[in-house]
Amino acid sequence: MFYLQKSFRPKAIRKCYYHTMPQQCRNIGWFARIPRAERDAIFGLVEDFQKDTSKPKVNLGIGVFRTDEDKPYILKCVQKAEEKILKKRMDKEYSPVAGFEIFKKLSMDFTFGKSSVFNKPGRHVTFQGLSGCGGLSIAAQFLRMFYPGRKMVYISDPTWPNHQNLFNKLGLKTDTYRYYDAENISLDFDGMMEDIHKMPYRSIILFHASAHNPTGFDPTEEQWKEITEEVKKRKLYVIMDNAYQGFASGDLNKDAQSFRIMAKRRVNMVLVTSYAKNFGLYGERVGATSFLVDSKHEADKILSQLILLIRANHSNPPLHGARIVEEVFTDPCLTKLWIEELKIMANRLKSARKQLLQKLKETGSSRNWDFITKQIGMFSYTGLTKEQIIRLQKEFHIYMLTSGRLAIPGITSKNVEYVAKCIHKVTS
Ligand SMILES: Cc1ncc(COP(=O)(O)O)c(C=O)c1O
Repeated sequence: MFYLQKSFRPKAIRKCYYHTMPQQCRNIGWFARIPRAERDAIFGLVEDFQKDTSKPKVNLGIGVFRTDEDKPYILKCVQKAEEKILKKRMDKEYSPVAGFEIFKKLSMDFTFGKSSVFNKPGRHVTFQGLSGCGGLSIAAQFLRMFYPGRKMVYISDPTWPNHQNLFNKLGLKTDTYRYYDAENISLDFDGMMEDIHKMPYRSIILFHASAHNPTGFDPTEEQWKEITEEVKKRKLYVIMDNAYQGFASGDLNKDAQSFRIMAKRRVNMVLVTSYAKNFGLYGERVGATSFLVDSKHEADKILSQLILLIRANHSNPPLHGARIVEEVFTDPCLTKLWIEELKIMANRLKSARKQLLQKLKETGSSRNWDFITKQIGMFSYTGLTKEQIIRLQKEFHIYMLTSGRLAIPGITSKNVEYVAKCIHKVTS
């Protein structure tokens, strides 16, 4: 049936005419004209993998930790913390808009360290974010509204695909700086420094605090110091994306060196910490975001605006994940267990890297795969081409991002030989 547009119908009959339209036609004017968005690269791949009924199949797409048996891992310290929480029979009232004070204090102790000058009232404004994405999102909205400098966020090339999506959707433009040397499969430190040097004053720059996603290459301590000096010269505002502290190397302090070096040199920054990977609390959406500030006066004003933004976004952060983190940080036995488990997870990834390298060498591949064990964290940026990755998926049911990013947790003792042989097949 054909329906005249509302505005072309006489007013008198408009109302009753509209209400006699079948339900499915009412939004035809504009819902149907919405362009279909591209699928999220990472979660889209997960869907494809789940639909694939072939055996064997291997998921090297998503960045979540897996045991050597290819199972999700619930940390024991998390389980014990949950038991303690359950016994306390805590209520389910709303948490404060910016999160509980104790959680925020413990997060500052964890990230910057108990003795940091910034870990004092009036030197930081911290809120509980919805994991890393939620923290980045509120920080981006805040910068869009109030940052007085150039509202352009420089992100590394390449970076985690959601960075560009997130900033652009929230009204901040993005541009890139060089980070990866594809020819030598390494960090392009000189390229990065040159690009930072050319950035307009007071732009915004995003760094990955550790375990750069997707390349797995981090600057050394000395290089972070050089970056810090250049950032200061250009008066850049830093967004530090801290998604892997403790999980990258197994050492909580080493993985924090990037932003601790910058904080010591008084770089202006916001630190966005996620507890998804290092606590295995992916779906609980727990994280902490801290703006470093100079005075209590500044802190109060910033917090007042953040509270408004959070109210407009998710209103109050979830309780459960924050309670777990709080429990682990406050109980010395659980903290000790957590640190041990972090090392176990980091070592499992290191060992999967070694096994993959070994098996690739055994295939007789003429390529140099040594970079696999030089990279750190969840991912290996393999240098495989899009065509090779499509072949891996179509012919061998091995799923990875077409950028060449391979998620190391998907490698197990059982599948490593198969994966190595298939990679060799598509690269020789
Ligand atoms: C670089 C980086 N930033 C942020 C995140 C945020 O993740 P979440 O929102 O799950 O904490 C991730 C997760 O993969 C990441 O790799």
